Amino acid sequence: MIPPNANTIKPAQGKLAVLLPGLGAVATTTIAGVMLARRGLGRPIGSLTQCATIRLGKRTENRTPALKDFLPLASLDDLVFGAWDIFPENAYESAKHAEVLEARHLDPVKDELCAVQPMPGVFFPQYVKRLNGTHVKGPARKVEMVERLREDIRDFVRSSGATRAVAVWCGSTEVYIQPGPVHETVESFEKGLREDDPGISNSQLYAWACIEEGVPFANGAPNLTVDFPAAQELARRRGIAIAGKDFKTGQTLMKTILAPGLKARMLGVAGWFSTNILGNRDGEVLDDPESFRSKEVSKLGVLEYIFQPKLYPEQYGNLYHKVRIEYYPPRGDAKEGWDNIDLFGWLGYPMQIKIDFLCRDSILAAPIVLDLALLLDLGQRAGLHGIQEWLSCYFKSPMAAPGLYPEHDLFIQLMKLKNTMRWMMGESSITHLGREYYD
Ligand SMILES: NC(=O)c1ccc[n+]([C@@H]2O[C@H](COP(=O)([O-])OP(=O)(O)OC[C@H]3O[C@@H](n4cnc5c(N)ncnc54)[C@H](O)[C@@H]3O)[C@@H](O)[C@H]2O)c1
Repeated sequence: MIPPNANTIKPAQGKLAVLLPGLGAVATTTIAGVMLARRGLGRPIGSLTQCATIRLGKRTENRTPALKDFLPLASLDDLVFGAWDIFPENAYESAKHAEVLEARHLDPVKDELCAVQPMPGVFFPQYVKRLNGTHVKGPARKVEMVERLREDIRDFVRSSGATRAVAVWCGSTEVYIQPGPVHETVESFEKGLREDDPGISNSQLYAWACIEEGVPFANGAPNLTVDFPAAQELARRRGIAIAGKDFKTGQTLMKTILAPGLKARMLGVAGWFSTNILGNRDGEVLDDPESFRSKEVSKLGVLEYIFQPKLYPEQYGNLYHKVRIEYYPPRGDAKEGWDNIDLFGWLGYPMQIKIDFLCRDSILAAPIVLDLALLLDLGQRAGLHGIQEWLSCYFKSPMAAPGLYPEHDLFIQLMKLKNTMRWMMGESSITHLGREYYD
């Protein structure tokens, strides 16, 4: 495509509707955080769009604007939040239930949060077995559910006065589904919708509705959702930006920081055992083996792609990688992730690294939701469509073009993100070659 530039990107005029299927811990932490940040009552730490800078040109030029000054992003003041959930609690009640944010953060924005009422969700229960949704759309065929979601989108955009919308899936993790013939083409998927094909899950219905309505869509869970050829083809045909999947937050974030470092020194790794305890609703859903399988697949790919065992059989050819998630209610959202890494160095001598990450799931995920909403909207206005690989740094299992392996190394992902931003704005990419300073 012809590269966009500062003059061809459509301006971020008017309000941007941020549509969140799933108004649980992550969604409410995001919404409350944005509301607090725009009143100056909280700082959006962890969000690149709000906190990071970008170097432009040579190191001697001293041009390092904040991303939010460099890019024509929607401002936090212009965001309006819409959501769907299968439970009727508004954003305030749901945030209280999630127990992520304390009263000192929820109370100042209580009225605004109470106004975010979820629209009834589309819920075929076989895809999330641990939940019994009560706030759901009446029975209908899947094809009709897509139509109802499309109506919801149009109604919300109209009533909120937004000029455009973007969606980020913050709903529960669904059971593991492998892509099948129904996911192959737009036509086979449309036939599947008419025939209630069991391969089509709830999240796929939301994604399909969004793409059909011209709404860019990011997937924060490990579900198939938009990660199949038919959705990607529809996104191309409609000119819509999509991204996924599974927010890269606690343990996997650590993995993609540490593994590239070990590989940079050609240190061998014999085993990597990761386990977590968490007690939020996400943990409860993941206690179901079929939902856990989706998460496991998403988490396991990371090391394989970073270490490239086929290229480095001696260092990584026999790596044993195991991931466990244990539902442990007393911990709530304050997850604890342990990693034991068995590595080896010079002459094969063994060493170990232990990580104990006392993190907070939704505190790590909220800035990702905000960044994805703002950057997908930017990408859409810049004319980018289909898979947005430049947003890989936000995902555990980044989607990539067919035949292309995904890039998991956080540092490569960050370079890709920033170079895409430079490219979008007509600035030259930075390769870090740096010969010019010495010639
Ligand atoms: N927090 C993190 O660090 C993190 C990291 C990676 C991925 N994720 C994923 O993000 C998602 C949200 O996490 P969370 O902690 O907010 O979970 P949560 O359980 O608190 O919230 C999920 C919400 O989705 C709702 N839901 C389920 N099916 C729905 C449907 N069909 N339509 C509408 N709503 C539906 C549930 O009722 C619930 O309120 C999960 O899939 C989780 O695996 C979270």
